[in-house]
Amino acid sequence: MTVESANPEFRRNSGEAHEPPLAPGAVPLLGHGPALVRDPLAFMSRLRDHGDVVRVRIGPKTVYAVTTPALTGAVALSPDYIISGPLWESLEALLGKEGVATSNGPRHRRQRRTIQPAFRLDAIPGYGPVMEEEVHALTERWSAGRPVDSTSEAFRIAVRTSARCLLSGRCTDAWAERLCGALTTVFRGTYRRMVLPLGPLYRLPFPANRAFNRALADMHRLVDEVVAERRASGRKPDDLLTVLLTAKDDTGEPIGEQEIHDQVVAILTAGGESVGATIMWLLHTLVSHPEHADRIHAEVETVTGGKPVTFDDVRMLTHTNNVVVETMRLRPSVWVLTRRAVTDTELGGWRIPAGADIIYSPYAIQRDPRSYADHLTFDPDRWLPERAKDVPKYAMSPFSVGNRKCPADHFSMALLSLFTAAVAARFRLERVAGSDDSPQIGITLRPRNLLVRPVPR
Ligand code: HEM
Repeated sequence: MTVESANPEFRRNSGEAHEPPLAPGAVPLLGHGPALVRDPLAFMSRLRDHGDVVRVRIGPKTVYAVTTPALTGAVALSPDYIISGPLWESLEALLGKEGVATSNGPRHRRQRRTIQPAFRLDAIPGYGPVMEEEVHALTERWSAGRPVDSTSEAFRIAVRTSARCLLSGRCTDAWAERLCGALTTVFRGTYRRMVLPLGPLYRLPFPANRAFNRALADMHRLVDEVVAERRASGRKPDDLLTVLLTAKDDTGEPIGEQEIHDQVVAILTAGGESVGATIMWLLHTLVSHPEHADRIHAEVETVTGGKPVTFDDVRMLTHTNNVVVETMRLRPSVWVLTRRAVTDTELGGWRIPAGADIIYSPYAIQRDPRSYADHLTFDPDRWLPERAKDVPKYAMSPFSVGNRKCPADHFSMALLSLFTAAVAARFRLERVAGSDDSPQIGITLRPRNLLVRPVPR
C-alpha cells in the first residue's frame, strides 16, 4: 500500500495548488508572534476558523499551521515531513543529536527497531511490579493528609518509574531527586530559549543562565553515571539499557558512546516530562471532578474487593481508563508538534514548499467542536465504545501516529490508569489555598502550580 492510497489527503504537488490563506492579525515585522506568545493555546485553536491549512508569520518566517484531524494524520504519516526545524534544533543542541527523538532516516529506523521490543504490549506486564511499588509508595507518603506539591510528586514518580523499568536497578532516591531537579530546570530553560531566541544573552553569567547550565551538565553527568555503573557491574539484566549497550549500527559495529548517551537522555526526558505533566492534569481532574473520583473509587472497590489495586486490575477499570483518556483529550501534555517538508508537496489541495515548517496542535485538534459534541465538557463516557466510534480518525492522537508515534503509549497508559485508580481509591483530593491550576505552557502543557490535599477516604 502506498502512502497516497492510505491517505487520500496526501498528494505530491500537482503544480495547480494555491498558497494557503494567511491567518488574520499579523502585525508589521513581528507577524503573529505577539499573539502566539500572548496566548498560544487560544491562537492555535482559532486558526481552524481560517482554513484547513493556514500560513502564520513569526517575524520574517512563514510557518504552515495544519488544523484538521485528517490533515494532521496525513502529515504524521507522510515521509515528506521530517523531524527538523527550530524546535528540534533547540532540543538537539541541549539534549544531543544522536537520540531517537531527533534522528531521521535510516538511523531513526534502526533506533526504533532497537528500542521497540522494550515497549511492546507483551513487555508491559513485566513493568507491573515496579509501577505498583511506585504508585503505592506515593499513596503511603500521602496518607498523613498533608498538602502535596503536585509538580514534584508527579515528576518524581514519572522519572523514577521510567528509570527503574527501563534502566533497571540504578535509581536511588538521591539520583532520582537530582535528575528530577535537573530536568525541571532544563525544560523550563529550553522552552524559554525557543520562544525567546536571544542567542548570546544566554551565554552571559546571569544567575538564571548559570542555573540552567548547571542543571544541563548535571543531567548529562547523571546519565553518564548510570551507563558507567552498569558497565562496571558487568551485569546484563533484561532491560532497555542492556539493549542499548549491546546494539549494533547498520554496519554491524557497536553503536558509539555518544549515541548510547543521547538515547538514554532522549528516553528519560521524553518519558519524564510528558508523563509528569499528564499526572499533574490527572490530579487536576480528580480535584475538579469529585463525582468522577467517586466513580473511580467505586469501580476500583468492585474490581479489587477493597485490596490495593494491581497492574492486572487496570484492564478491568473502564471508567478509570476513560477518565485518563478524557483528561488527555482536553489537556494533552504534548500540545504542539512540528515537522519540516523535505520536498514540494500538497496538503488538502494547498501548496507546501520544500523547507516549509509545519506546526499543529493536538490541544486544538482535540477540542474541535466539529469532532466533539460539547467539545469543552469533561465527559469520560464519550469514550464508551458506542460513542467513541463517532470520533473522527486522528481527532484523538495524544501519542501521535506514524513512524514517530510515541513508542511508550501502552507503558504510559498502564502507569497513568494505575496511578489514577490508586489515588482515587484512597483519597478525596481538595485544592489548597494558593494553588494555581492555570496552564503553564512550555515544551509540554501542565498546571502552573497545583497544590492538593489528599484526604483519606
Ligand atoms: C514521542 C507523547 C510518554 C518516549 C512522542 C510523541 C508524542 C508523545 C506525541 C511524538 C512526537 C512527534 O511526533 O513529534 C507522549 C505522551 C506520553 C508519553 C502524551 C505520556 C503521557 C513517553 C514515555 C517515554 C516516551 C513514558 C519513554 C519512557 C518517547 C520517545 C519518542 C516519543 C523516545 C520519540 C519517538 C520517535 O521520534 O521515534 N511521545 N509520550 N514517551 N516518546 Fe512519548
